Amino acid sequence: MYQTIFQPLEWGGLTLKNRIIFAPTTLGLSPEQEEQLLGRIAAGGCAMVIVGDVPVGRHGPHSLYHRKGMAYYRRLCAAIHAGGALACAQLHQSDTDLLWLLGQAPGVLLGRIKPEELRSRLNRQAGPYITGLPARKVTRITTSFGPAAKLAREAGFDAIQVHGDRMCGSFSSALLNHRQDLYGGSPEKRSRFAVEAVAAVRRALPDIPIDFKLAVRQENPHYGNAGVLLEELEVFVPRLEAAGVTSFHVTLANHGSLTDTIPPRNHPDFGGQGCFLPFCDRVRQYTKRPLCGVGGLSDPDFIEAQLASGRIDCAAMSRQLIADPDWSQKVRQGQVSEIHRCLRCNRACLGGLQQHQGVHCIYEKENQG
Ligand SMILES: Cc1cc2nc3c(=O)[nH]c(=O)nc-3n(C[C@H](O)[C@H](O)[C@H](O)COP(=O)(O)O)c2cc1C
Ligand code: SF4
Repeated sequence: MYQTIFQPLEWGGLTLKNRIIFAPTTLGLSPEQEEQLLGRIAAGGCAMVIVGDVPVGRHGPHSLYHRKGMAYYRRLCAAIHAGGALACAQLHQSDTDLLWLLGQAPGVLLGRIKPEELRSRLNRQAGPYITGLPARKVTRITTSFGPAAKLAREAGFDAIQVHGDRMCGSFSSALLNHRQDLYGGSPEKRSRFAVEAVAAVRRALPDIPIDFKLAVRQENPHYGNAGVLLEELEVFVPRLEAAGVTSFHVTLANHGSLTDTIPPRNHPDFGGQGCFLPFCDRVRQYTKRPLCGVGGLSDPDFIEAQLASGRIDCAAMSRQLIADPDWSQKVRQGQVSEIHRCLRCNRACLGGLQQHQGVHCIYEKENQG
């Protein structure tokens, strides 16, 4: 009945055992808890786990350049492989100016700047920051995706996803990128950051699958501030392919509200199943490479129909696989009625992360039992 979901897929030189992927998800848990959760999700039968927000830089506890960071990723990859899935590293560069952030620290510590206000200030500083970055520094950053990819490979990752949001998304967007040099001024120039980052990974690892998280934005109604405007896909997609991208993971761009990119069920436009799939339809006009849909996917019948029609080639889920890591196994074994359906309440997952308690789920007890 769910034939296509369980059909293997050739994906950038690797074979995915089925079409289900755990979408990149920052967990904010202890290393041991993250290892356990990602291992659990892998063991539930998905083909690949994408580890979210692996930094390309040398700073922070999770840098691939630090012994501790490397050991952490090795353990995550081992847990994912032991569960029977492939591991993909989502390489990202933040677009937060660290000096600016330090300046906000007193206000945050004294409670004068509330978390929502800090988030909105963070969104507002990205444009001026990336517009003012010296070109030589930008090239250093895009080049750094290459060595980071090599380190990720050494840690055990099977594939790389280049995060097309964050700094990459800010450079892509005419709303944030006001440069008038090699990196801005036209869609071609705004695509240069992403293209150079992908090309750096391709040079470092000629055979590795490179997935690109293609974050798109739209007008009428306006959603997303970073990322690629739908009308500019015809510029970005062929260039990314030529640079080495082997598949695309399509979603709404950020720097707006998190409840647009991780929409609750009462969202006015993105509350339904497969809420971002119309973006895949637009990307499909410019590529034959595998497309992964994400956003509000959870219903096996709906997912099977989208895969069988060829609208998408694989389906990524974040919240549904947190709500029930055994989703794939239950679908395969005909136990669909036993799936803990994600309610898209955002209470314990996104809510947990925002309250610095890490990602949890209202079904956690059932999943442990
Ligand atoms: C708690 C949480 C953390 C997330 N962290 C990331 C991340 O690190 N990188 C990323 O690209 N997307 C991240 N996302 C977005 C998801 O990958 C996904 O696009 C989004 O949740 C919509 O899919 P869903 O409806 O299956 O949850 C996160 C989502 C959630 C719920
Ligand atoms: S807390 Fe709610 S939205 Fe989050 S994974 Fe669980 S059911 Fe889904």
